[in-house]
Amino acid sequence: MGDPQYMVAVVGAGPAGLFAARKLTEGGAYVILFNRDIKPGGLAEYGIYPDKLKMKTGLRAQFKQIMATPGIDYFGNVTVCSGGNIVLEDLLESGFQAVLVTTGAQGTKWLRLPGENLPGVYHAKNIVYHYNLLPPFSEKKYLLGKRVAVVGAGNVMMDIAHYLIRNRKVEEVIVVVRRGPAEVKFTRAEMETVGANLRLPALEAEFARVSPCMQAAGQDPAVIKAAFLSALPKAIPPVSQTCFRFEFLASPVRILGDWMNGVNALKVEDNSLLAVDGNIKARGTGETRQIDADTVIFAIGDTVDRDFCIPIFNDAYVASPHPRFPVGEISFEAFNPDTDQPIERVFLAGWARQASVGLVGVARRDGERAAEAVLAYLRTQPPMRDLDNLIDKFEQRLVETHERVVDKTHLAKLEAAEQAEAQKLGVPEYKLATNDEMFTAMGF
Ligand SMILES: Cc1cc2nc3c(=O)[nH]c(=O)nc-3n(C[C@H](O)[C@H](O)[C@H](O)COP(=O)(O)OP(=O)(O)OC[C@H]3O[C@@H](n4cnc5c(N)ncnc54)[C@H](O)[C@@H]3O)c2cc1C
Ligand SMILES: NC(=O)c1ccc[n+]([C@@H]2O[C@H](COP(=O)([O-])OP(=O)(O)OC[C@H]3O[C@@H](n4cnc5c(N)ncnc54)[C@H](OP(=O)(O)O)[C@@H]3O)[C@@H](O)[C@H]2O)c1
Repeated sequence: MGDPQYMVAVVGAGPAGLFAARKLTEGGAYVILFNRDIKPGGLAEYGIYPDKLKMKTGLRAQFKQIMATPGIDYFGNVTVCSGGNIVLEDLLESGFQAVLVTTGAQGTKWLRLPGENLPGVYHAKNIVYHYNLLPPFSEKKYLLGKRVAVVGAGNVMMDIAHYLIRNRKVEEVIVVVRRGPAEVKFTRAEMETVGANLRLPALEAEFARVSPCMQAAGQDPAVIKAAFLSALPKAIPPVSQTCFRFEFLASPVRILGDWMNGVNALKVEDNSLLAVDGNIKARGTGETRQIDADTVIFAIGDTVDRDFCIPIFNDAYVASPHPRFPVGEISFEAFNPDTDQPIERVFLAGWARQASVGLVGVARRDGERAAEAVLAYLRTQPPMRDLDNLIDKFEQRLVETHERVVDKTHLAKLEAAEQAEAQKLGVPEYKLATNDEMFTAMGF
């Protein structure tokens, strides 16, 4: 590759942003990565369950290689959004020819239920960030009780159940699922981490209760139950007495409790199953009941951050329905439905484009495709003149207005400090859990 000809800002250094950055440099762009967190990696660093050390180490090595690319600069601890350190318009006005937004799904999906603000009600992302040691979540106390209702049936629910059962060793984890056992989204591998705590009599009773609904929707409960139980032979040995059980066909309608004592129950509406155009939907029956719980955790996916100021639909930033630079028929171009116009020079990828959808590999592919779309756009533009000067001026301005911008040199110091601590303690990894500790290690 020759000298870079274009200047692109990538906002977010999770898997989508990092893999996009590499592809962009291969196509002749100079990339500046802006990242809210000090460290790169996004949910690969702060979402994937801590004990998946091999996977995390492998991803970190790939990210490190990308970050070492000469045409990629890194500004960590820089939040781009209204109320942050810099806004999208600043980037567009500072000479960046395109901005690729890969900020993930950082907003909370509120169901607007009565009681949703009570003490003891949490959203999974915050707990996930807490146990993965992302400041400031790592420094907050999450008061988890003995009986925890977890709403949702995806792999995030399984990660939360894993934490509650194996780390917090709570008495009971009740998974509240709005559809039936055939519609759960978690994988068998994740069930293996907590399957040893599954209370089989409770599961039998629950299958018996929901079988008529399943049969009415054309499902065979015996087949679905066998799939459910197939993870158990490989389940890892239990480390707690936690009772792990499911409540199917139940949609939360209210969280009961008070401000002094917190949550005491989750009120749910019973559902039946309805087959519509090949999809199974939940339909409320009007019957309600209460599930005793002192903590409720919503693991129902997330939404994007409103403060970024790009229109949102279906929990993600809106992409143009008429892309000028589609890749694989997918639109990566930000769009304003109010004006029916694209948001010029702004592109989307990863969970910012499709909130809470897919694994790291999916985010990687999305980032790489978005980079192709950005490059296709850039090729319609004249190459940038005086690029080095522009980059220097921008970097100088940012460092002048924001005193704790983390660059690649700082990250190397942080990595060395954490590795030294791990070695001292004789553990495979060590993470500094507060910004202050990290800044000290980086020499601020
Ligand atoms: C709990 C959990 C566990 C998971 N476990 C696995 C697993 O085991 N295996 C697997 O393959 N996948 C797993 N995934 C999925 C995987 O983590 C995602 O597919 C992937 O991380 C999405 O990548 P992304 O880059 O789009 O977003 P993210 O990874 O969320 O990255 C977003 C980045 O943007 C930055 N950012 C956010 N807002 C701003 C802003 N305003 N300004 C600047 N920067 C900003 C953040 O700091 C972050 O670095 C898991 C997901 C979750 C939630
Ligand atoms: N170990 C891993 O590999 C791992 C770990 C964590 C996450 N991930 C990945 O990250 C992505 C996101 O995971 P996720 O678990 O957040 O999402 P998910 O797989 O989409 O699951 C979300 C769950 O929440 C339920 N839900 C959504 N809205 C609801 C509402 N209003 N009321 C009640 N229930 C509601 C959904 O039910 P319906 O089905 O009825 O909509 C579904 O059961 C997935 O691709 C997942 O595989 C992977």
